[in-house]
Amino acid sequence: MGWDSGPQLVAERTERARLVRDVFTRIAPVYDRGNALLSLGFENRWRAAAVAKSELRPGDTALDLCCGTGSFLPHLRRAVGNSGTLLGLDVCLPMLGRVGTRHSGAGLVLADACRVPVGSATVDAVTIGWGLRNVPDLRLCLEEAGRVLRPGGRLVSLDMAHSRGAPFAACTLMARLVGGILGQRSAYCYLAQSTAAFASPEELAAEFSKVGLRGVGHRRMFFGLIAIVWGAK
Ligand SMILES: C[S@@+](CC[C@H](N)C(=O)[O-])C[C@H]1O[C@@H](n2cnc3c(N)ncnc32)[C@H](O)[C@@H]1O
Repeated sequence: MGWDSGPQLVAERTERARLVRDVFTRIAPVYDRGNALLSLGFENRWRAAAVAKSELRPGDTALDLCCGTGSFLPHLRRAVGNSGTLLGLDVCLPMLGRVGTRHSGAGLVLADACRVPVGSATVDAVTIGWGLRNVPDLRLCLEEAGRVLRPGGRLVSLDMAHSRGAPFAACTLMARLVGGILGQRSAYCYLAQSTAAFASPEELAAEFSKVGLRGVGHRRMFFGLIAIVWGAK
């Protein structure tokens, strides 16, 4: 590693974080519509499957990182019940601004998922949907998730799973098409590219293990295009 790779790395990550914020600022008004089209209406089943992996119980505390427009929050509220505590965190104010009726009594936090303003060992489960491929530093984000979890607490990621087959090519094409329909072609191109560049579920599971999570596993769904990855502190 060269002497200047530290500052250069920081500059690259800062630039990437700015680009990601710009993309989500632009697509915030159409994000929910885009998701419904891209997921062919299956998104809520996938979210429910991910929340089931969190093993949350009534009265628990859940943190949803990269919560966006809050689509995980109603699922998490059902899991923790009215006595539980919910927090949603996102770095993009226009996305948080569209949480609306999905709010489910959650506290909303405008922050970076790599610097979570939550105390250590205070959370029973951390969920992150279609978020890890966007954060500027994957390892740091996983370490933060691990830090805020109570012993035994679980981290669950739900995201696209890169594969070489025809379904993935179709999915990339679909993202471009939906971007065109919604008037946000370049932003949706970013979503397709970030999926292609993201870790496979197997690689992501290995990253979970590297930050000290136990019982790490993953499951592919929907022709292998979607994956849940989980682990416990
Ligand atoms: C694809 S959306 C997913 C939203 C939501 N989780 C869902 O299931 O629909 C990704 C979200 O990650 C947020 N995000 C990107 N980088 C982030 C970061 N470093 N910290 C927190 N949120 C971030 C974006 O603002 C966006 O709302």
